[in-house]
Amino acid sequence: MRVLGLESSCDETAAAIVEDGCVVRSDVVASQHEVHARYGGVVPELASRAHILNVVPVVQAALDRAGMVLDDVDGIAVTHAPGLVGALLVGLQTAKAMAWVTGKPLVGVHHLEGHLAAIFLEPDPPPMPHLGLIVSGGHTSLVRVDGHGRVVELGATRDDAAGEAFDKGAKLLGLGYPGGAVVDRLARRGDPRAVAFPRAMTAGEHGADFSFSGLKTALLHHVRAHGVPDGPALADLCASYQAAIVEVLVRKTRRAARREGIDHVLICGGVAANSALRVAMIAAGTEDGFRVYVPPPALCTDNAAMIAAAGYHRLARGDRDDLALDAIASARLPRRA
Ligand code: KG4
Ligand code: ZN
Repeated sequence: MRVLGLESSCDETAAAIVEDGCVVRSDVVASQHEVHARYGGVVPELASRAHILNVVPVVQAALDRAGMVLDDVDGIAVTHAPGLVGALLVGLQTAKAMAWVTGKPLVGVHHLEGHLAAIFLEPDPPPMPHLGLIVSGGHTSLVRVDGHGRVVELGATRDDAAGEAFDKGAKLLGLGYPGGAVVDRLARRGDPRAVAFPRAMTAGEHGADFSFSGLKTALLHHVRAHGVPDGPALADLCASYQAAIVEVLVRKTRRAARREGIDHVLICGGVAANSALRVAMIAAGTEDGFRVYVPPPALCTDNAAMIAAAGYHRLARGDRDDLALDAIASARLPRRA
């Protein structure tokens, strides 16, 4: 089954063709980073307009690179929640129009289920059940995956997402937007114990929930008191700030793995590209006896191949959405009772 996936929930316009939920025939992403960089964050109205300009050429490029025409596709999968509504609507209306014109089946995909499905595009994916730590610019969720589409949330951030913490920290330090990768690079030369930053909500009673907004405030106070350093002191500050994020993510994940009795852990979303997070999670897995899976960077950040992969399993089960499918700005995964 060949599925055309579409993704437009934030600042990437993406289309991909995936066969049988695991073979990527094409994967096209048009990023809007230059559009938003000067504002230090995604401007929703500008995102919608850029999606409108990009969506048809991106879909056409995905078909061309796969050597296919729309009629060769067996189904259409589109991100319909959560995200910026105006942005989601562009991909959604395009998908609906194509489904209506061709009569092909349509399914809406939850963006986070897409991130979780990315690893199934790689050889040797994790078995079920596994834990998923979804860490991106918009989301921080720790979930239990019992099967395709069978996901329960064990915990999530109560304020900023992990990627947001990286990006807001980077902005404060004048490192540009999005700054997660820059912090990662500078931190490699720094001492993570140089500056003491808070590790929020790590006490047992907070379960698997996260909070990162206090960390950003702690950095703000540090910068107000000492200014923005440069050279080795900047590297130390980045390493210390990053360590506070990574340590909380790893601590909560290993605790959940132990409690759930699960020995396969997937990290996905843009922050999964963070080198310190990968190293720390693998070290924790070696100690505790769980195996860590991380998709390659291009499948960690937003893309449509992951949406097509998640959509494949829904289509294969016979799920169908009709043209009343709507975009939903905030849609949480089902939470563990
Ligand atoms: O998944 P993604 O492309 O978009 C969302 O769905 O949000 O994630 C983007 C996020 C940004 O916050 C970016 O700073 C962060 O991923 N990021 C990183 C790294 N590479 C990307 N954060 C830390 N270290 C990295 N190496
Ligand atoms: Zn995402």
